[in-house]
Amino acid sequence: MKRLGVNIDHVATIRNARGGTHPNPFNVARQAINFGADSITVHLREDRRHINDNDLKKLTKSKIPINLEIACNNKMMKIALKNKPKFVCLVPEKRKELTTEGGLNLVKYHKKIMLIVRKLNKKKIRTSLFINPTIKDVILSKKINSNCIEIHTGKISNRIKMKKNYAKEFKIIKKCAKFASKLGMEVHAGHGMDYNTTKVLSKINEIKEFNIGHFIIGESISTGLKNVIKKINKLINK
Ligand code: PXP
Repeated sequence: MKRLGVNIDHVATIRNARGGTHPNPFNVARQAINFGADSITVHLREDRRHINDNDLKKLTKSKIPINLEIACNNKMMKIALKNKPKFVCLVPEKRKELTTEGGLNLVKYHKKIMLIVRKLNKKKIRTSLFINPTIKDVILSKKINSNCIEIHTGKISNRIKMKKNYAKEFKIIKKCAKFASKLGMEVHAGHGMDYNTTKVLSKINEIKEFNIGHFIIGESISTGLKNVIKKINKLINK
């Protein structure tokens, strides 16, 4: 069974624009689950531009399955261990980027990431590494002992949106997904996905979880969260 994780960061972005309490990310998270999402993803950025520590506390204290995205450092690891989300996805983070621009540098930060993964795994938190679609990164993810990988789908998503040929990107994502699955890691996909991208990537059977944020929240403004989730669920063959 394939799963859909809805990233609600941008509900918090809209709330933060006015510094008040509306729209409420917790209420939207609950609604998303009621409408058919399997989990809720939130990225606690170091600059707290989306959700904040209170949001995380409230979300992880509830019964909602939370997938927490964090940068690879001790401070964020301690926050994860304290709040105990069901899932953690380690991501690279640059202060000035608009969004997560690429996958982790597993060569450079191998030791650091391995240590964090070990501590999270020990607490029975499912671990995932946000990686670029390369065989080398799949092998390193296995060596690091991560439970899952999340393939950065930004590049293929852009090409699909620009109506450019995406065969090369699709082929490598498929190859990585198959290989990671063979190695015993669950495969997820995330970044830049919309209806078309989701339709293309759902053809890869090994991708078991789709984490989608900006498009779902943006599209909900005109067609409603319930309709968007329903449509995406259909596309991923749930
Ligand atoms: N997965 C990961 C690991 C991410 O960092 C992001 C962006 O925060 C997403 C999925 C969702 O990307 P988008 O908002 O483009 O759907």
